[in-house]
Amino acid sequence: MEDLDHLKSSLMDEVAAARDPGALEAVRVRVLGKKGAVTQRMKTLGGLEPEARKAAGQALNALKDALAGAIEARKTALADEALSARLERETVDVTLPGRPAPAGHIHPISQTLEELVAIFGEMGFSVAEGPDIEDDFHNFTALNIPQEHPARQDHDTFYLPPLTPDAARMVLRTHTSPVQIRTMQSVEPPIRIIVPGRTYRADSDATHSPMFHQVEGLVIDEAAHMGHLKGTLIDFCRAFFGISDLPVRFRPSYFPFTEPSAEVDIGCSREGGQLKIGHGKDWLEILGSGMVHPKVLENCGIDSTRYQGFAFGMGIERIAMLKYGMPDLRPFYDSDLRWLRHYGFLPLETPSMVRGL
Ligand code: PHE
Repeated sequence: MEDLDHLKSSLMDEVAAARDPGALEAVRVRVLGKKGAVTQRMKTLGGLEPEARKAAGQALNALKDALAGAIEARKTALADEALSARLERETVDVTLPGRPAPAGHIHPISQTLEELVAIFGEMGFSVAEGPDIEDDFHNFTALNIPQEHPARQDHDTFYLPPLTPDAARMVLRTHTSPVQIRTMQSVEPPIRIIVPGRTYRADSDATHSPMFHQVEGLVIDEAAHMGHLKGTLIDFCRAFFGISDLPVRFRPSYFPFTEPSAEVDIGCSREGGQLKIGHGKDWLEILGSGMVHPKVLENCGIDSTRYQGFAFGMGIERIAMLKYGMPDLRPFYDSDLRWLRHYGFLPLETPSMVRGL
């Protein structure tokens, strides 16, 4: 019996010393397994006198139960310890500030468009949109470009195959100007809109793509004059390029839908073959503009003796390339991740006038 007490306390120590479920299982096998210390002793009972066998059997069974209970309790304790350690390790600090996902950039076209919307939004313009597939009337005729007008050839238009032999001919819009017409046909002046969107011309080289983007502007009310046109576009150029004294020049030009018309140039220098926007000896053309032709107003059912206004249009890729120093237009549409990472913008940095875009 003394021997059993001794055995019990040494086995109990082993159970308590098991540091993980694997070690505990090894102890269990050593104690209660087929060749374990207790089982071995059970086998010796047969050689005892009946009285002694009964007492020793009871003692061994009690020892076995005590050890099994201790092993079970140790197992539960180890599992609890493991869970607490894991909870400790995997805590989430919910008070940490949010971090933007590291992947993904804003495409320079989207960024530039957001900047345009921020600048013109500040001046009270809203955004209007129109379809990419236009009819001849909205893309040309209503804009004072009649059937035989040479400007039609200049536009390198993509014509769509007619759905039926006598259906009206549809085109991929060659500029965003048809949205001037759609807006004037559907809303009463005063009008103050910008129109970003895709445009199409059969033209392709380092600075031309068959699909590109433009933004149109249109202001119609009873008083808008050439001074407003100039002020609006000078402010726009200076805000967009972030140069408060950027030289801006208005050069007489021709568009069928504006009269008078002016091309807008900004100051630059090309010294050493390096283009730099700002003060310099040279000029760079960046957009077309003019006072809306009275015929265009009349084509939209607007009384040209009462209303007048101005319009302008520019290529988004072109001004993005100038502002961000991109030499080639083609990578804009290549989805090359190296280019996108290099020229892309951070997703949460929304352009705003307050932060200088
Ligand atoms: N639609 C002209 C173009 O694509 C640009 C323009 C728009 C010019 C509005 C004057 C007024 O070239």
